[in-house]
Amino acid sequence: MRSDPARPPRVDERLLAALRSDLEAAAYTVDDVNDLLGPLAAAALAREQTIPAQRVTATDDSPLATLVRLLALGDPVDAADAAAALPTLGVDGARSLGLVRDEGDAVVAECDLRPHGDDTHGWWVASDLGELATRRPLRPDHVLGVGAASATLADWTVRRPVATAVDLGTGCGVQALHLSGHAREVTVTDTSRRALAYARFNAALNGQTWRVLEGDLLTPVEGERFDLVVSNPPFVITPRGADVPVFEYRDGGRAGDDVVAELVRGVGSLLRPGGVAQLLGNWEVPAGADWRDRVGEWVRGTGLDAWVVQREVQDPAQYAEVWARDGGHHNGTSEFATMYAAWLDDFASRDVEAVGFGVITLQRPTSGRSPFVDLMEAPGPVAHPMGPGVEAGLAARTLLAESSDSDLLSRRWRVADDVTEARWSRPGATDPAVIELVQGGGLRRTVRLSTAAAAYVSVADGELTADQALVAIAALLDADADSVRAEVLPVLRDAAKDGLLVL
Ligand SMILES: C[S@@+](CC[C@H](N)C(=O)[O-])C[C@H]1O[C@@H](n2cnc3c(N)ncnc32)[C@H](O)[C@@H]1O
Repeated sequence: MRSDPARPPRVDERLLAALRSDLEAAAYTVDDVNDLLGPLAAAALAREQTIPAQRVTATDDSPLATLVRLLALGDPVDAADAAAALPTLGVDGARSLGLVRDEGDAVVAECDLRPHGDDTHGWWVASDLGELATRRPLRPDHVLGVGAASATLADWTVRRPVATAVDLGTGCGVQALHLSGHAREVTVTDTSRRALAYARFNAALNGQTWRVLEGDLLTPVEGERFDLVVSNPPFVITPRGADVPVFEYRDGGRAGDDVVAELVRGVGSLLRPGGVAQLLGNWEVPAGADWRDRVGEWVRGTGLDAWVVQREVQDPAQYAEVWARDGGHHNGTSEFATMYAAWLDDFASRDVEAVGFGVITLQRPTSGRSPFVDLMEAPGPVAHPMGPGVEAGLAARTLLAESSDSDLLSRRWRVADDVTEARWSRPGATDPAVIELVQGGGLRRTVRLSTAAAAYVSVADGELTADQALVAIAALLDADADSVRAEVLPVLRDAAKDGLLVL
């Protein structure tokens, strides 16, 4: 067992340049590490399971394999091998940065350092070593690396070019790395000094300059306006009592789902007109209630457009299991049982029967129109990255909010290229019982069609206006044109908001 890491690595521009050059020379990139490990070990490592990767790299003395063992797996590495893998920085330089320390003839990492990237960028991200490397429960100010929630937010974030962006609760700074690709000025905030030290290190290592501010939720940037706000906040609903350890990375110091509620209610003060805020969150669903009532109440009165996609629902026991295990405690131990019970008691005290998880996108309208509110569920697979779908969905919802029915009918809609039609019939029946539009990308939505709506989408190829098509369909069906309009308009709006019908 190793001692707790005392300090995050420090910034020294000269040593960081040497480290960068060694990481580049060894091809310490997402693709090269994945190629080295193969799909099984790479997927296991993403779940923080190191054994498959240890087996793959055990007999490989290439610099890349050495760096994986040292910096991603947290294993002791012979000092001579480490020196060969870091020829410019050297072991002395790595020690001086606070990346490694000696352990006999070997060196071990003081922090985790892994490649991370998107389709067009590659970065390195330092964070605290996980519990497998330290073999002890995490410290209260543990700084997370790139986890599943980080990846979800990065995946759903709109990547439009902006002047100013802020990442609230930045942790190691992973969202800020993504923001650096499309925001001229990036601000990061956190309550944790340890997290901010990692964020500074990661910014410097990746050649970025961020404004780094310490403080609670919106406080450090109060009075400022941004084009884009992102936050993967400490949204985990945590019983407030001695039975459950507090981890800063997941617990924002509020009861229930108040952290997310506070952010949703307050974040509008940071948004310029047209500005967008995207956050992840958990919300409590009391017995007999609908999650939309709760989240809808947070949004009401903010003056913001709100598009909330619930992705997952857990019952209190499932939630307790996940979060009692997180932090290094195991089923079967008395600590685990005590925490499990504390979560169940906490939820029972507020009559909570389910916990939702989802992505919240808020937008400050540019005009004085009424804000739109769309609270929807999309529990299945979606496109990756989802950011372009969110960008298109915001634009479509904005257009729909700013258009009267007759405006929409005067447009020449067409069925998007990734949309197919599914017809479901009873065996032996000639006519379909159900007709659906099925989206291949985006949220992969399915929209059920009435007869008139099915007739409309079959001719919606951008040639006719919707109204011209509906008048012709009414004549064919021997129906009143106004009733056909009334029947098709809600379907048109529903299909258009998620890009199944486009202009
Ligand atoms: C779930 S982590 C997210 C880290 C990183 N942004 C990501 O996407 O992986 C939440 C972060 O919020 C910070 N935090 C906790 N309480 C906070 C508060 N009241 N105000 C601001 N940040 C807080 C934690 O220190 C942690 O770094």
